[in-house]
Parts: sequence; C-alpha cells; structure tokens
Amino acid sequence: MAKASTGRTGRRVAIIGGLRTPFVKANTLFNDLSALDLGVIVVKELVQRYDLDPREVDQVVFGQVVPGLTAPSIAREVVLLSGLPRSVEAHTVARACATSIQTMVDAANSIALGLSEVAIAGGTESMSDPPVFTSRPLAHALVSASKAKDLPGRIKPFQRLKAKDLLPVPPAIAEFTTGLSMGDSAEKMAKENGITRREQDELTLASHQNASKAWKAGLFKDEVMTVAIPPKYAVLAERDNIVREDTSLEALSALKPVFDRRYGSVTAGNASPLTDGAGALLLMSEEKAKALGYEPLGYLRSYAFAATDPGDQLLQGPAYAAPIALDRAGLSLKDIDLVDMHEAFAAQVASNIQALASRSFNQKLGRSAPVGEVDRSRLNVNGGSLSIGHPFAATGARIIHQSLRELKRRNLAHALVTVCAQGGQGAAVVLERT
Ligand SMILES: CC(C)(COP(=O)(O)OP(=O)(O)OC[C@H]1O[C@@H](n2cnc3c(N)ncnc32)[C@H](O)[C@@H]1OP(=O)(O)O)[C@@H](O)C(=O)NCCC(=O)NCCS
Repeated sequence: MAKASTGRTGRRVAIIGGLRTPFVKANTLFNDLSALDLGVIVVKELVQRYDLDPREVDQVVFGQVVPGLTAPSIAREVVLLSGLPRSVEAHTVARACATSIQTMVDAANSIALGLSEVAIAGGTESMSDPPVFTSRPLAHALVSASKAKDLPGRIKPFQRLKAKDLLPVPPAIAEFTTGLSMGDSAEKMAKENGITRREQDELTLASHQNASKAWKAGLFKDEVMTVAIPPKYAVLAERDNIVREDTSLEALSALKPVFDRRYGSVTAGNASPLTDGAGALLLMSEEKAKALGYEPLGYLRSYAFAATDPGDQLLQGPAYAAPIALDRAGLSLKDIDLVDMHEAFAAQVASNIQALASRSFNQKLGRSAPVGEVDRSRLNVNGGSLSIGHPFAATGARIIHQSLRELKRRNLAHALVTVCAQGGQGAAVVLERT
C-alpha cells in the first residue's frame, strides 16, 4: 500500500482554527445559495473572526464534490469573491466525502515543505443546487439546432427525440463502477457485518443527543457562523437545522427502510441527509503562527489515505486508513482521547468500529493485532453527520475543527478523525493539541 508523506517530515503544521456555516437540509434555508456563495461567506468571515491580515494568506485550497458547471475552479473563485488579494493562488481539489481532509492535507504539505506560510483550506457543497444534465440525445439535438441556419433545421433535431430523452438527469450518489448507491452499500455492510437495526438507531440517537447538547451548551459558537440569507438578509440561519432534540429510539425504529424496502435496515433516520453548507480551516507554519501571535488550536500529527475494493465494503475505508495514520503518528488507539468518525450511515460507523476491533480484519491487513475497541463514550461526543448533516466537501473541515475545539475544552492530547469516501476510500487524521 502506498504511503503518503505525513507533514511530520517537514515543518510542523499548526491548525489555528476554523469556521463553518450552519449545515442545513438540502432544499430548505440555503435553497437560493450556491456552493460558491457558501464558500465565499465562510472564508470572508473566517478572515474577519481570526483578525487575519488577508495579505498574509498565500494559498487557498478548496473543494466541492458535486461541482457546478459555472465555477468549476471553485477555490480560485472563492479567492476572487471573498476579498482576499487577487494574487493569492488557489487550487480546487476533490476526494469525495474526504474532500476537505484532502484540501487540509494539501495546504499542510505545502506548509511542511516550506512553500507556504498561511493557508485556508475547506470545502463547500450545495445539494439544493446540483448540476442537472440533459440526456445525451437532447444535448446532441440542442447542439445541432444551434448550428442550423433556418427554422426547419432548428426543429428537425428535436423530432428524433423520444419522451424519455426530455427527462433531466440528476447527479448520481452512486458508485460509477458498481452502480450501487451509497445507501445500497450501507445496507450491504449492515447485512455482511451483522449490524442490527437497533445498533444503527442507537448510534443515530446518540448523534442527535450529543449534537443537541453541544448546541444547548453553546459549544458551537466558535465553530458555526450565522448566515444572513440574501437577497433581503432578513432571514438568519443560526443553527444546523437537521439536529433533532426530540428524536427517540421509538421514532427512529418506526421509520421504514429506504434502500432495501423489504429486508433492509437503513432508513432516513440512520442515514446522513443531503445537506448544504461550507467549512474552512486556517493553517500556518508553527513559526508563522508564533510570529503573528496566534495560539494554534492544535497541530497535524499524521494522516493516511487508504482504499479498498468498492465492490467489497464500500464505506470501510476508515478501518484501512486509521491504523496507518496511527502508525505514522507513533501512537496506538489507547493514546487517542477522542475519536471523530464521519457518520455517512450508522451502519458504516458500526462496521468500521467492528473492523478496528476485529482480529481477522486486521490479519487481512497483515497486522498482528486489532487496532482496538473504540470507547463509545469518546466517539463523536458532539454529534456527527447523522445529526449535523453532511455537505460532502465541508464535512472534513467541520470534523477537524470540532475535534480540536473539544480536545482544548477537555484539555486532552490526541484525536483521531476518520472519513469514508466514494470509491472505497478512507481518510484518517491524527491531531495533537500541543
Ligand atoms: C435516506 C434519504 C433517501 C432520505 O431522504 P428523505 O426521504 O428526503 O428524508 P426525510 O428527511 O424526508 O425523512 C423521511 C422521514 O423520516 C423522518 N426522519 C428522518 N430523520 C429522523 C429522525 N432522526 N428521527 C425521527 N424521524 C426522522 C422524517 O421526519 C420524515 O418523516 P415524514 O415522512 O413523516 O415527514 C436521503 O437522506 C439520502 O439519500 N441520504 C443518503 C445520502 C448519501 O448517500 N450520502 C452519501 C454518504 S457517503
């Protein structure tokens, strides 16, 4: 398995902090905002909140998983619209749901190599504004018609179309190679790993309860900004609108399975919902942070990406990546104080936890012992994607920031962050406070 560089081979990378918009269910409050709007909103406020001289920023790395057609180079557009100097270079990155882990790592690598001092990394997603395509026959007809010289010539290409050619083609949340949707894959994992409906619903309930508690206690005030929604700016998005304070095991267990209606266990409750939102992180070299007088929230200790066959257990990537990141950090699971595991589906979280503790799974990886049991009381302590939502490209930035804030609050040393991603990929990051 190829090993990526960790950032520890170069200069130490400080994560000064971050910010995100509220995460809101698709087609609700952010209905009229594009992913670019959300990215710009968050970067503008990040710079203000951290009292950062924009001239100090030397690169922006940003991503979007379902890109729009009008601003595909979204990182650069974010620079141009957020008041940063036009000389700030930027590049756009995508690694499915691990996109803003990748943007953070890209920025961190530049810093570690001495190529950058101050970078902003993040991601943005609007599932309210996905690109909707035309069918190939309709696209061809439109092109032919646009080239025709007279009215009959413009009409003729459309006469060959069938009714089904007129239907819009939305982006698929499915594996290109297997054709299975993410939900189908979560179902497969639940069945193959013997994850019960009850376990999935319990994990979901814990996610909602933890996120509600965090909101009530005001823990997200330094993590989540208020968005005044254009054009009138009269409506404010102040909180995540997916978190349910009142959900219960009874309510969750009453929901019908969505992906395998007959024998399935994955429901709208124990799946992360389609979400809009953006998140960003501010990174600096340790030296630059000192020079500018910033106290970092923490540091990047190590990271790893790994992949498995998407036809096997699609969302098991974290169980492959976490041991590599821990090895690179020189730590074991026992040294980890908090685990933040992206919750694409409750079945995926339960499956990954099971794999980390499994002797046979780790033997398959050529490891003599399991990584270990994840202590549930240290898992996703302020909620995860099941309750907070999952704007694909923004989730990594949310988790990194949320984890670091909690380490600081509890005065703890290390956190392990994991994210599963399309294509059977997994990301794992080890963060350290001091
Ligand atoms: C699962 C999915 C299809 C459900 O979409 P949806 O039907 O729009 O879901 P809704 O939010 O309308 O919820 C359906 C019902 O469940 C209820 N529900 C959802 N979450 C609940 C909870 N935590 N507690 C109680 N009820 C809940 C809703 O209230 C709604 O009830 P209603 O029909 O009486 O109004 C959609 O969220 C999805 O595709 N998720 C997966 C996204 C994905 O693949 N992401 C990639 C991850 S890697």
